[in-house]
Amino acid sequence: MTPDGIAGRTALVTGAAQGIGAAVATALASRGAIVALTDSDGEAAHRLAVTLDGSRAYRLDVTDCAAVERVFTAAEADLGPVDICVPVAGILRPAYLLETTDTDWRATFDVNTTGVFHVLRCAGRRMADRGRGSIVTVSSNAAGIPRLGMAAYAAAKAATTLLTKCLGLELADRGLRCNVVAPGSTDTAMQRALWTGPDDATGVIAGSLATYRTGIPLGRLVEPADIANAVVFLASDQARHITMHDLYVDGGATLRA
Ligand SMILES: NC(=O)c1ccc[n+]([C@@H]2O[C@H](COP(=O)([O-])OP(=O)(O)OC[C@H]3O[C@@H](n4cnc5c(N)ncnc54)[C@H](O)[C@@H]3O)[C@@H](O)[C@H]2O)c1
Repeated sequence: MTPDGIAGRTALVTGAAQGIGAAVATALASRGAIVALTDSDGEAAHRLAVTLDGSRAYRLDVTDCAAVERVFTAAEADLGPVDICVPVAGILRPAYLLETTDTDWRATFDVNTTGVFHVLRCAGRRMADRGRGSIVTVSSNAAGIPRLGMAAYAAAKAATTLLTKCLGLELADRGLRCNVVAPGSTDTAMQRALWTGPDDATGVIAGSLATYRTGIPLGRLVEPADIANAVVFLASDQARHITMHDLYVDGGATLRA
């Protein structure tokens, strides 16, 4: 079943070239949305966009505020007013806090927090003027629980989650909704970069007392499509009375039930 409020709408997705962003763009397009696929890897975004009806790719580094404005303007001229915005682009540079370099700290916040801020502000202003729109930010379950080797990432994601909820409060009286999807360990290049061997997926699912991880109660990694389905639901009219919500899609890994 195609949820209402997706077909015929223009959606802009950041980080859409691969992984979760690609799954979100594909899911929205398969339900009839016209998708602007944006990514710092413009060529990879283009390769996917040509397979999705009516969609287009734009090279966009979300850390560049002026570029965010330019790409929104171009996408709206090409595809129509953006009614659905999904900031997905993110990076992970694992390190214990005591070993985190200034460079990695800044890069993590530049992309995962300030980049999302640029996109939220740009999308929010345009949607507020039109009195319609839905934003779904892809954050992380690490925003809600301490994890070894993820201090900068978790802090940046926690900030991003709250930024999105604050925008939801600011825009609620204009009928706009802002929600968060918080993935757990999802089978993408970002996740696999953390692995050191072929059995690592099994270890992630089983958990480890030594690293204070409880594992994944549902017994499998998240697939990008699982995250995309949650995003589509929150973006759709089926979620018309849901805003400032933080939907964990982590198989129970953070025991939030
Ligand atoms: N994979 C996981 O286990 C997991 C878990 C929780 C949250 N997340 C979050 O989900 C999102 C997507 O993760 P993924 O696993 O698909 O990662 P990925 O590395 O597979 O894909 C990330 C995409 O973002 C793009 N990108 C990176 N920096 C960018 C920038 N400055 N501007 C624009 N695009 C940029 C990359 O080119 C890439 O296409 C991220 O925000 C990540 O933090 C992932």
